[in-house]
Amino acid sequence: MKILILPDAPSACCAVANRMAALLKARPEAVLGLATGGTMEPVYAALIAQAAKGAFCATGFTSFNLDEYVGLAPDHPQSYHHYMRAHLFAPLGLAASNTHLPRGDAPDLEAEAARYEQAITQAGGIDLQLLGIGANGHIGFNEPSSSLVSRTRVKTLTRKTVEDNRRFFAPGETVPGYALTMGIGTVMDARNIVLLATGAHKAQAVAAMVEGPVSASCPASILQMHAHATVVCDREAAGALRMSEYYETVHPEGAEPALTIGPVV
Ligand code: PGA
Repeated sequence: MKILILPDAPSACCAVANRMAALLKARPEAVLGLATGGTMEPVYAALIAQAAKGAFCATGFTSFNLDEYVGLAPDHPQSYHHYMRAHLFAPLGLAASNTHLPRGDAPDLEAEAARYEQAITQAGGIDLQLLGIGANGHIGFNEPSSSLVSRTRVKTLTRKTVEDNRRFFAPGETVPGYALTMGIGTVMDARNIVLLATGAHKAQAVAAMVEGPVSASCPASILQMHAHATVVCDREAAGALRMSEYYETVHPEGAEPALTIGPVV
């Protein structure tokens, strides 16, 4: 695992946007796995700003999102379909046919999950999967106790996740209790993974993910088993890491290491 600690949230978000832009510059037809949530909003804003400057061609990539609430139609303002259109797809001018999210309003959710898995396979798999992390260690909506080899399916959200999501809904509005989410096995099939965490409220989850045991109690800890997983966080989210000094020595301010051969003093 590569652990990149940036001084603050804006620089951490920028570092992630830069990685995505670099991939799209090198491979405009790349397949991206995308995430929603408050953490990703500044990342998408930075990506849109880079595209506007002509840093990469923004209309050639294909995307697959991690999840969608069960019961919400794509035009529901709190649906992840809506979030992605508002925060990324419309500003980039990306054709709807390039973008994929599971349909939480599908009449047969099991068939929808199978269709989604098949669509990812048909696209050739995901080149770069972007992830956030829940305060309870979830990735996508794979809550603690999720099978570490799970595929796309319906998950019941924990009370904590429902409460964390309440801020996006109008007062009194029902917050969905179920989601259709890529499984942990689906996420692990991506060729590269970048997980972004910002803020002190993520510090315990980040420490469990990076330095705890690989365990379904912290679904994100499975990233320890991925050959190309990068964790990007700000100092606050890195606050409970026991070995942060080491990570910062290897990657000062998130930089790639200079490969100098010689004695380590
Ligand atoms: P957040 O959500 O970015 O809104 O904190 C992250 C997640 O739950 O995966």
